[in-house]
Amino acid sequence: MDKIIIEGGVPLQGQVNISGAKNAALPILVSSLLTEGQNIYHNVPQLRDIDSIKELLSYLCADIQTEGDTVKIKADGLCKTEAPYDLVRKMRASVLVLGPLVARVKKARVSLPGGCAIGARPINLHLKGLARLGASIELKHGYVEASADRLVGDDFYFDMPTVTGTENIMMAAVLAKGKTVLRNAAREPEITALADVLNRMGADVQGAGSSVITINGVSELHPAEVTIIPDRIETGTFMVAAALTKGDVTISRCEPDHLRAVINKLKLTGSEVIVKDKEIRVKGPDRICSADIKTQPYPGFPTDMQAQFMVLMSVAKGLSVISETIFENRFIHVSELHRLGADIRISGDSAIIKGVPTLSGAPVMASDLRASASLILAGLVAEGSTEVSRVYHLDRGYEAMEKKFSALGARIQRVR
Ligand code: EPZ
Repeated sequence: MDKIIIEGGVPLQGQVNISGAKNAALPILVSSLLTEGQNIYHNVPQLRDIDSIKELLSYLCADIQTEGDTVKIKADGLCKTEAPYDLVRKMRASVLVLGPLVARVKKARVSLPGGCAIGARPINLHLKGLARLGASIELKHGYVEASADRLVGDDFYFDMPTVTGTENIMMAAVLAKGKTVLRNAAREPEITALADVLNRMGADVQGAGSSVITINGVSELHPAEVTIIPDRIETGTFMVAAALTKGDVTISRCEPDHLRAVINKLKLTGSEVIVKDKEIRVKGPDRICSADIKTQPYPGFPTDMQAQFMVLMSVAKGLSVISETIFENRFIHVSELHRLGADIRISGDSAIIKGVPTLSGAPVMASDLRASASLILAGLVAEGSTEVSRVYHLDRGYEAMEKKFSALGARIQRVR
């Protein structure tokens, strides 16, 4: 297993390009199941999670060609309607094939994803939504078996905003008979990106990005050629890295509009944040001020930026409180940050962070995608050497992170 070793203390300087958004690419690649013909996707990030979804789509007999960051998918002859456990357990977003398969070939057998490090993460709302559209749902031997001759549009209220739940039902509804209204839908930019792609394929989806999405079903769709939006969490991660190391970094090919909550919070810490059209420049302050955050569904502060921001607060002046309201167990990185000298106490769904003058490097272990990013960030600022193991977690969601940090001057290397 690979490790990443960082010698901390270098202020990051220079320019970095943001890759395509993992959490937009995953549902968009799955949407290829909804039609015959060849879909073309540009700016697809080269990540383990993208490899996993391509493996699943190939298992279903979609024809996939990858040339750099362009992926072509043709799902003419689907030979299976099943997402097996060994693929789903690798990446829970595989459950996104459920809606499209029922819509396109009237049935699907998808393994229940099971929990993960950050929480139980049930898919009950995905199943309730599909049932509302007329699918029959059975749970047998750890699998969901869903089927419907033809889905029928209806009005569905999500008990809580769920990103992949909204995406799953949206993809089922585009081929349903009649009108579907999704209420309390998730509003993330990745939802809007998926709706844009579905409309490019001939669907009729209105209101994506708001909490009420209206879908008028059509009888069939056609392929599309699209470009994946930039990754707002990768962008936020590099913004925090610049602030943390008292650097001066220009982040290009990003979408500032998707990061208003993060930009606002970073300014409160004393960082200078200069926003241009598709570019954000961050200059780190000499003195990092503490700021409280509470994770919320979009457009609130994203839970996927919580661990990264906690590192910044661990070397800020004074006390800060971070509340995690989305997942029940997303403080796993705290015990690793303790090893680096951070002073953090957990109380219920909140972490109380008392800033320390500096962190000190040590061997640490990654546990989930964003926690591993936070350990790399900590290593950039810790005195001495930090060794992060189990970086396969990092490779799931960050494209060539150590290369991008090295190009900004960090003393960072990957060892096999
Ligand atoms: C998406 O996960 C993202 N993944 C996550 O990013 C992100 O952290 C999360 O949204 C929240 O923003 C992808 O888009 C592939 P949810 P998702 O359904 O859709 C509960 C990363 O690091 N819930 O919005 O699985 C759930 O338990 C990953 O890239 C139900 O109770 O998250 C959670 O508490 C990590 N029942 C809350 O809703 C359901 O049927 C939000 O989960 C569905 C969700």
